[in-house]
Amino acid sequence: MRRVYLDHSATTPVDPAVVDAMMPYFAEIFGNPSSVHQFGREAKVAIEEARSRIANFIGAEPSEVIFTSGGTESDNFAIFGVALLGLKEGKNHIITTQIEHHAVLDTCIYLQRNGFDVTFLKVGDDGVVNPDDVRKAITPRTCLITIMHVNNEIGTIQPIQEIGKIARESEIPFHTDAVQSFGKIEVNVKNLNVDLLSASAHKIYGPKGIGFLYVRKGIKIEKFHHGGPQEAGRRAGTEAVPLIVGFGKAVEICAERMDYDYRYVSMLRERMVERIYRAMFDEFLILNSPLDKSIPYILNFSINSSKIEIDAEALIYGFDLRGIAVSNGSACTSGSLKPSHVVLALGRDEKTALATVRFSFGRGNTVEDVDYAVEKFVEIVGGFVEKVVSK
Ligand SMILES: Cc1ncc(COP(=O)(O)O)c(C=O)c1O
Repeated sequence: MRRVYLDHSATTPVDPAVVDAMMPYFAEIFGNPSSVHQFGREAKVAIEEARSRIANFIGAEPSEVIFTSGGTESDNFAIFGVALLGLKEGKNHIITTQIEHHAVLDTCIYLQRNGFDVTFLKVGDDGVVNPDDVRKAITPRTCLITIMHVNNEIGTIQPIQEIGKIARESEIPFHTDAVQSFGKIEVNVKNLNVDLLSASAHKIYGPKGIGFLYVRKGIKIEKFHHGGPQEAGRRAGTEAVPLIVGFGKAVEICAERMDYDYRYVSMLRERMVERIYRAMFDEFLILNSPLDKSIPYILNFSINSSKIEIDAEALIYGFDLRGIAVSNGSACTSGSLKPSHVVLALGRDEKTALATVRFSFGRGNTVEDVDYAVEKFVEIVGGFVEKVVSK
C-alpha cells in the first residue's frame, strides 16, 4: 500500500546528512565535554560549534543558548524558571493563550493549582491573539507572558513582535514557544522582541530529544536541573553531544534551504486547498488555518457537523487505513476522543472540532502525495454523505 506522511508537525525524519554528522560522536569522539583532557575537549568544541551556529541563526549570542532535551523541557524551564523568581518579588500572575501547546498550557495550569493566577487569553475566530488583549491583561503582579509563535495545530502566526514590544514597555519577561516556526520562517530574537524562546530539533529533520532555550542576556531564570556546572551552570547534566551536533547540522541545512522549502510547501498547500474545494462542497468544510495568517506547512480542516454526520474516529482511521499519516489534535483519554482545545478555541462546536484533520507538509512530500491524500479525503468524507444533515 502507498504510504504518505503528512504529519511533519508531529515530527520529521532525520536528514541523512544529520545522521552522518552525528555518527562519529557516539563511539569515536565520545568524551565528556566537561573533562579537561583531549577526549573531552573535542566533544566540547563540537557542542560549542553547534551552539554558535544556532545562536547565529536566531540573532543571539552563543551564551544565550541553553541546550535542553526538547521543546517540552524548554517551555517548562522558561515558565517555571521565570515564574518562581517572580514569586520571590511577590508577583504571581502569568499571561498566556488558550491555544498553547500542552507543554505550556499544562505547565501554566500546574502553576495555577499552586497559587498563581493565569490569564488564558482568547483568540479570534482566525486563531490569532489580539495584542491589545495582552496589554489589557497586564497587572502589577504579572511576572511572565508566554505566547507561542506558530500554532502547531492550525499554523497561525501570532503577532509576537508587537506583544514583545508591549511586554518590554511593561518590563515583563516574554517567552515564546517557537517549536513550530524555528527553521521554517525567520526567527530572530531581536526582531521578535522576545526574552526567552523554545525550539526543538525533531521538527526540522534533526534528532528527537534535543532542543534549546534562548534566554536573553540579563533575564534572570531559576534553574530547573540541579547538579553539575554544565551549560554555564544553568542546566545540569552531561550534554547530549551527538544530538547537539545533529541539531547544529539540521540548523545549518535549514539556513541554506529555508526559503526554498517555504516556497515548495506553499505550492503543496495551495494545490491541496484548491483540489479539496474542487472536489467537495464548501459547506461541508471549515478551514481552520487562515491561509494568509498561517505558515504553509500546516493545513487544518474540520468537517461541518451541522452538514454531515461524521464519525471522528472513522475519519482519522480512514486515513490510516489508506496509508496516510495525518493528525487531528484530539486526545484519546480513557477510550473516548476529546476534541482539540485549539479548534474549540476557534468557536467550533464539539462535534465539528472532533471531525478535524491536520495535514502538515515537509521536504519529502510530492504533488502525487497531495493528490492521493485529497482523493482519499474525498472518499472518506463521501462515505458519510448519506448521512448529510438536510438544510
Ligand atoms: C508548539 C510546540 N511546543 C512544544 C512541543 C514539544 O516539543 P518536544 O516534542 O521537542 O518536546 C511541540 C511538539 O509537538 C510543539 O508543537
